[in-house]
Amino acid sequence: MIKVEGTVKAVREQVKAWKKEGLSVGFVPTMGYLHEGHESLIKRAVKENDRVVVSIFVNPMQFGPTEDLASYPRDLEADKKLCDNAGANLIFHPEPEEMYDGGFCSFVDMNGLTNALCGLSRPVHFRGVCTVVNKLFNIVAPDKAYFGEKDAQQLAVIKRMVKDLNMDIEIVGCPIIREADGLAKSSRNTYLNAEERTAGLILSKSIFLGKKMVEDGERDAAKVKAAMVDLINTEPMANIDYVEIVDVNTMKNIDEIKGEILCAIAVGINGKARLIDNFMMTV
Ligand code: PAF
Repeated sequence: MIKVEGTVKAVREQVKAWKKEGLSVGFVPTMGYLHEGHESLIKRAVKENDRVVVSIFVNPMQFGPTEDLASYPRDLEADKKLCDNAGANLIFHPEPEEMYDGGFCSFVDMNGLTNALCGLSRPVHFRGVCTVVNKLFNIVAPDKAYFGEKDAQQLAVIKRMVKDLNMDIEIVGCPIIREADGLAKSSRNTYLNAEERTAGLILSKSIFLGKKMVEDGERDAAKVKAAMVDLINTEPMANIDYVEIVDVNTMKNIDEIKGEILCAIAVGINGKARLIDNFMMTV
């Protein structure tokens, strides 16, 4: 069974030993409760690197005071099996104290890309993500790191951080993995009962609708957004946080659909879970 390390020291020693042998290291940072989305990242990393580290750490710093830190699902045994089967070599599973000791006071923050989409309703989120990913990169020192396109803003933020801070790591974005009925895989889907899960399908339905409109030639962002909003509002359990179309490189709203675009949505379902979904396209 795959090795699980809880200390920074042990992970560093292992990675150094691999690098001494000339082996490349891929890294998949996660918060655990792994699903097929994570599995696809791990498998891609296994394909493209000699060794793969997966981190499992529910990072307190990226949760706001009223968010779901305490209830975030956890299942280390199942995660170990998934990592093992997918071909990963090491899990880094630290306790919060290993990552943030009493004196911790340094942060990585960003001014631009985070003042939009999820950054507006989750004001501390990206500071927490940037800080922990920076720490994890310093601990694992990977050649390549893998992130899901489902968190499209996170992916853009991490790419920008790596560029801005001259980190020698290649960031690889991997496509959204969906259930057979369209629902994007997410650890947070487990918050929903059967009826709420069916209501959650309104996210992918509206994403597919918006995508089809753009594919069919619609270039007016307002029209695409309005059609998506109207569709989501047909679901009584849905509560829209945002439906936006932005430039993927700046996260700024656009009126005309042109260039590399991201259409992203966040929708609360029955007050139980806030789900996100998106499509990206080059037009
Ligand atoms: O996407 C996630 O699961 C988290 O935001 C990450 C990148 C592991 C940082 O905690």
